[in-house]
Amino acid sequence: MTQTESLLEKGLKTADLTEDELVFLLTCADGEAVFRAADAVRKRGVGDEIHLRGLIEFSNICQNNCLYCGIRRGNPNVERFCLSPEEIVESARNAKALGYGTVVMQSGESGVPAVDDLCGVLRRVKALDVAITLSIGEKSFEEYRAYKRAGADRYLLRIETTDKALYAALDPQMNWERRKQCLDDLKTLGYEVGSGCLVGLPNQSVESIARDILFLKRIGVDMAGIGPFIPHPDTPLKDCKATGFELSLRTMALTRILLPDINIPATTAMETLSPNGRVKALQSGANVVMLNVAQGGHRAAYALYPNKAGVNDVAAIARKNIERTIESIGRKVGAGYGSRKKA
Ligand code: 5AD
Repeated sequence: MTQTESLLEKGLKTADLTEDELVFLLTCADGEAVFRAADAVRKRGVGDEIHLRGLIEFSNICQNNCLYCGIRRGNPNVERFCLSPEEIVESARNAKALGYGTVVMQSGESGVPAVDDLCGVLRRVKALDVAITLSIGEKSFEEYRAYKRAGADRYLLRIETTDKALYAALDPQMNWERRKQCLDDLKTLGYEVGSGCLVGLPNQSVESIARDILFLKRIGVDMAGIGPFIPHPDTPLKDCKATGFELSLRTMALTRILLPDINIPATTAMETLSPNGRVKALQSGANVVMLNVAQGGHRAAYALYPNKAGVNDVAAIARKNIERTIESIGRKVGAGYGSRKKA
């Protein structure tokens, strides 16, 4: 038996791998073996259903200045927008009509809309009988509590990287410990918590990626979003190369092996870097797809990175297409809210 095979066998049996073992599997020659193992764990852990989420990117206003991100505060070439409450609710209503059981509301990090206004929107969306995932950045405990009470069920906040030096270099004004505290607060409040990381950042080591995977396991995430870094032309990292596709798939696959029963999306960034990226991800551990359902005509302005897949898709057509794709790979569209079911 090769070392790859024996480590994968250990992963399949125990859902436990050390940092060194993860580094080996992140870099070994036989990536396909890692993907196959992750696919087997996915089948056992969460079955063949693929849960579809309706994504509403409702504002690109952001106070942060992350070097990699297209909607960073310091990018003057972005037309800033925030959908009105009516537009957000209408987008959610459309998602519900198309059959989505979950609406994901994502935005840049800012005070817009105000807490009470956003709570009002959450109550109206909740009345549609959908699960709500929020992804609006670092907030206070009280603010997170207000959103939970107004109807939010889940929260996505990527840690981005567990390499604290790299984290600080990517946005000197942000604080890693504070972000970690937010994840703890969300857990305390009873949210289903999602986190994850970027893969292929400049100066990011494979060892740190192995530690990112172990971090997700240690904090007990319910969802993990992992995607390749894609350089944006209006950011300081514009001259970097997008090298993270294969490594992000492996990172995702190994996360699946260590966390058999969580929800893992095939990320839009993967689909953006490779024409078949989404399907490849769904066959390497992923069980969730997030599709844009936002109305209001601002999708192109939510460019975290260039050439984002699906920006011009009509929601109803995109939904039909993904349903067909899911059937073509022998899987099923998930029913209900698609919450994490702990094994
Ligand atoms: N390439 C890929 N992903 C990015 N994100 C932000 N900028 C980029 C980029 N240039 C990711 C971050 C964030 C998520 C919403 O989008 O990981 O958490």
